[in-house]
Amino acid sequence: MVDNVSAGDAGHTPDRLPPLSVIPADIRSLPDYERRAEAHLPPATWRHIQSGEGPESSLAANRAQFGRHHLVPRMLADMRGATTELELFGLRHAAPILLAPVAYHRLAHAQGELATISAATALHTTMVVSTLSSMSLEDIADAARAAAAELRMPAPPPLWFQLYFQPDRSYTAELVRRAEAAGYQVLVFTVDASVKRSDFALPPGVEAVNLRGMPRLSQNAEVASGRIVFGTPLLDAAPTWESLAWLRSQTRLPIVIKGLLSPEDARLARDHGADGIIVSNHGGRVLDGLACPLDMLPAMVEAVEDRLPLLLDSGVRHGTDILKALALGARATLIGRPQLHALAVAGMQGVAHMLHILRAELELAMAHAGCSSLPTLSSGDDAVLPARIVKTADVML
Ligand code: FNR
Repeated sequence: MVDNVSAGDAGHTPDRLPPLSVIPADIRSLPDYERRAEAHLPPATWRHIQSGEGPESSLAANRAQFGRHHLVPRMLADMRGATTELELFGLRHAAPILLAPVAYHRLAHAQGELATISAATALHTTMVVSTLSSMSLEDIADAARAAAAELRMPAPPPLWFQLYFQPDRSYTAELVRRAEAAGYQVLVFTVDASVKRSDFALPPGVEAVNLRGMPRLSQNAEVASGRIVFGTPLLDAAPTWESLAWLRSQTRLPIVIKGLLSPEDARLARDHGADGIIVSNHGGRVLDGLACPLDMLPAMVEAVEDRLPLLLDSGVRHGTDILKALALGARATLIGRPQLHALAVAGMQGVAHMLHILRAELELAMAHAGCSSLPTLSSGDDAVLPARIVKTADVML
């Protein structure tokens, strides 16, 4: 499906394993891909992908948050006609699993985002394409359509584009126009990473191709003027709530705000015209010590009064994690790092296999929870037995 791409080195070094062409039988879970991925990546790239900010307590807590909640199974439910389908923004999605926007897939594989989206299309999964993709947003959308045609699907899964605001609004507007023209149907406006620490240098052959020719601001401290973070050009140009209102005026596409954790911000997002929210701490990458998305979710759902869908990411690694997030009020979940792990280990096949594993785990979990369709907090429908959930503390009482 992606044979028109020349294989650049994408940072691979001779001591690293090339991507496998056959998936080993002992890969049965997302952590299995993670364990294998390190051997396929240069050490600096591996650290860049895996790391969290600071002492990485948020990174660890993102996994631990799912371990504190447990599903209460329900038996003898009629599961005929069971489905994982859902509708978001009027668009049909096959399952509440999306690939989170992740920059520079060519760090993990020479075919980069083209391999990922081909695999995602085959598994009926939406990939949220990052502003910082290492293939152009147009080529990625074309690859999705080509993969769908090859698989005789009427259309690829809905195309979503993630937007990082550019210092100059005319460039942000240009990205929006390009995304619309390329057929993207949903915009994700990431708001939690305007400033962050990173000392990772991109290897040759990997760049933010969508931003070619656009000015980039530096976040470097200006020692002479005494500026550290405050007063640096990047922070001064960072978007505000007014930017969301401006974005709303620029496009008719649904806008999903990514990177909120507080009920107050959820309300503000709704009031400024957002159509959805991704509850996320960016996988623990931007600031350590932040609240976990799963812990904040119920209060955020309450804050928006069920008037816009909340999605969740950060630490999702198993089908039961997805069902727990849904039972606490998320409409869908996104996964970040596992797509790069699978891509590094086995390219397009790896991503497809990883998504298949996750989907199988979700269906198994739904079967055990007696959910013949996705649980939603508001569904008063008896046919959908809402998945019940208990916290570790409740179980021990
Ligand atoms: C990210 N993430 C991210 N988010 C975003 O909105 N735009 C981006 O370009 C990127 N780039 C990016 C690169 C890498 C290497 C990682 C690991 C993450 C954050 C991503 O969308 C998501 O919020 C987290 O990855 C979710 O956490 P898990 O699933 O990785 O634990």
